[in-house]
Amino acid sequence: MGINSKPVVFAILSAVVILIGTVVTVFVPLFMPSTQPVSSYVKPYTAIELEGRDIYIREGCNNCHTQTVRPLRTEVLRYGEYSKAEEFAYDRPFLWGSRRTGPDLNRLGGKYPDSWHYKHMQSPQSMFELSNMPAYGWLASNRLDTSNSFRKTSIQGFGYSAEQVKQQIADYAGKVTSAGYDSKTTRDLVTPASLRGELTEMDAIVAYMQKLGRDVKSMEAKR
Ligand code: HEC
Repeated sequence: MGINSKPVVFAILSAVVILIGTVVTVFVPLFMPSTQPVSSYVKPYTAIELEGRDIYIREGCNNCHTQTVRPLRTEVLRYGEYSKAEEFAYDRPFLWGSRRTGPDLNRLGGKYPDSWHYKHMQSPQSMFELSNMPAYGWLASNRLDTSNSFRKTSIQGFGYSAEQVKQQIADYAGKVTSAGYDSKTTRDLVTPASLRGELTEMDAIVAYMQKLGRDVKSMEAKR
């Protein structure tokens, strides 16, 4: 009599085989360091970039934009080097997305100056007449709430102290409000006069846009 005629034994044996398969293919890799590559080039988000990322999630930008360049020739030609696992070490949750109504943003950092982003966010149609991206100019009328920035970075495990977070916020505020800021004219144009001396949600989203893919680009530049 073969095993086929013993249903209970067969069920138990197949359950055991499936369990072994699950452990080998799921749980073993989960604890293998080589499946979680880290790169010294990839740095965590600053407090401001993380605030920008939260606004990106809040506004649902990832419903129209992906953040992953696939290893296909056409994608690499259009966007640049394809995305690697280690780039997403600090992305919780990741924002790979699945829908590309707009272009992929994973290699956006450094592609345009800040002024481009201020202008584009305020009116995408002023840059691309047929763009169906909504305008987000009102983000510049919202003061950036940094009261939870430290908590956010610590929950994410970025390892900054409260002072470092304060410093990052002060540094970025200093940068965008200074007279020497290279995108000052455009920022002033989109920001209400009463908020020009402070950080707005628009500033944070621009900071986040400039961070996307920046670490990988600097890694490639040094190769
Ligand atoms: C309804 C879909 C839609 C939504 C929602 C949307 N976008 Fe877009 N986005 C587009 C389209 C289409 C384009 C291409 C045309 C253009 O640049 O306006 C684009 C282009 C862009 C670009 C320029 C990319 C490049 O490489 O030239 C950036 C940056 C961008 N979007 C950021 C954002 C951010 C940030 C948000 C959320 C606050 C957002 N988008 C929400 C559709 C969308």
